[in-house]
Amino acid sequence: MNENNHPQPCPPATPEEMSRRSFFAKLSIGLGSLCAAILGVPLVGFVIAPLFRKMPNEWIPVGKPTDFEIGKTVNVPFPDPSPLPWAGITAKGAAWLRRESAEQFIAFSVNCTHMGCPIRWLADAELFMCPCHGGVYYKDGTVAAGPPPKPLVRYDVRINNGQVEIKSAPTPITTTV
Ligand code: FES
Repeated sequence: MNENNHPQPCPPATPEEMSRRSFFAKLSIGLGSLCAAILGVPLVGFVIAPLFRKMPNEWIPVGKPTDFEIGKTVNVPFPDPSPLPWAGITAKGAAWLRRESAEQFIAFSVNCTHMGCPIRWLADAELFMCPCHGGVYYKDGTVAAGPPPKPLVRYDVRINNGQVEIKSAPTPITTTV
């Protein structure tokens, strides 16, 4: 304070003080960047790495042959064998399984080949329906009507050790519009 009771202005910073401030500002930015890299790189790796992981082709048992009636199509649980860490409930997949004869089964993806919506089986009409844009498929998976560009994706099926097994594959989603 001076004699008039006014605060005194700060004296201008000396060149040494300016250079010290500049040094500490750069040091703060450098340390901040280093911390961000230490925390961020593992996080990005955790998110991205699973996308490049090769999906294992596993045979997934879905029940005994006698569990399925000839000529019937049923929904069977078909878990994603290689779920992404953040997949949550979407890792609990399903497939449509049709028993054609005593020894022959067909398994379809539940995803429409148009834009991937889950399809429903209408037993009375013997058709698969897609609720999103009205796609319709026959019981053999071929397109009956609507925008789907190709038949339903089929999975390999076998009977092994008294179990019907479906071979896993990546979720088939097309991007055609
Ligand atoms: S997603 Fe099935 S008809 Fe479009």
